[in-house]
Amino acid sequence: MKPKKRIGVLTGGGDAPGLNAVIRAVVKSAWMREWEVLGIRQGFDGLLDLATVRPLEHEDIAGILKLGGTILGTTNRGNPFQHSTGGKKIKDQSDLVVKNFKKLKLDALVAIGGDGSLTIAQKLYQKGIPIVGVPKTIDNDVAGTVITFGFDTAVSTATEALDKLHSTAQSHQRVMVMEVMGRYAGWIALHSGIAGGADVILIPEIPFTLASVAKKIRERYENGPGFAIVICAEGAALKGGNLVIKEKRQAGREHARLGGIAELVASGIQRLTGRESRSLVLGHLQRGGEPTTFDRLLGTRLGVHAIEMIEAGRFGYMAALNPPNVTSVPFEKAISATKKVPADSDVIRAAKALGISFGD
Ligand code: F6P
Repeated sequence: MKPKKRIGVLTGGGDAPGLNAVIRAVVKSAWMREWEVLGIRQGFDGLLDLATVRPLEHEDIAGILKLGGTILGTTNRGNPFQHSTGGKKIKDQSDLVVKNFKKLKLDALVAIGGDGSLTIAQKLYQKGIPIVGVPKTIDNDVAGTVITFGFDTAVSTATEALDKLHSTAQSHQRVMVMEVMGRYAGWIALHSGIAGGADVILIPEIPFTLASVAKKIRERYENGPGFAIVICAEGAALKGGNLVIKEKRQAGREHARLGGIAELVASGIQRLTGRESRSLVLGHLQRGGEPTTFDRLLGTRLGVHAIEMIEAGRFGYMAALNPPNVTSVPFEKAISATKKVPADSDVIRAAKALGISFGD
């Protein structure tokens, strides 16, 4: 029997726990409508070379709800508008995407991704592709949605890591400084910092000084338990200073690779306070593992809503969580700005009320 509609689904950008829950929800709710779903591999790159595109079957989605990563694969270099053809050569391949979309006889496309993928989705929508989006990122920095799936799992992982760091900090009377992801937003550091009992939280939204951080550390040794835990977002920066970068932006990539701030902070603390300090970078552990219940549920709700948007012909929108409901928000809103921690956040106030220092 001919399916009533044929849609494609892809995942773009960095992986995040909950991607498979979204894919499963998209596929299952499409099947309920007797639609066919084609899986597109490696983000938008999968629409340049159709060799790997194929219908998703029962065995593809069985048991994936609790799996990390994405069964479709992903890339954060797959921008068809700036496609890297090897070396430094960049070519606009978006016309080929449109052509292949038609060749596959697709009625619509679901793009699951962060700000980069949603920007591509918006441009493809302007080129005539009926496309809907589902926001994804552990960084929680996509505007228009209160929370992105993946964030809760990443915060749980970072909190657990802080719990474990307490052992060494306490036993050796050390300062332990942990760096977490989040790019230009401090959501992961702020939430896990409070939940994991950090004494200092450094986020991009609040530039810090080492003198202020050192003051808090001295307090912990002079009037406190004699050890300290510091968490810093990879995008945190000294007042008047620059982001600490691991690798400059490469051709075809959207951002520079951040990294190294924890080391800088730990050595600064040791120098200013004389207290033995160690740093670590939690890194990609935050992107891995089974999604939490919250992320599975959110991913599922967003995936179902993506299908509802297609059914309603609401293209150029992404599904978004605006509690208590999942709604749809135009791509423009999602990509207009990076969602940062607001200065008047009650979460920051709560942290300050506990005596946590932001180094400001
Ligand atoms: O945007 C998600 C994210 O994990 C950021 O927090 C981090 O800066 C970046 O991706 C790391 O990207 P990559 O996996 O390419 O190193």
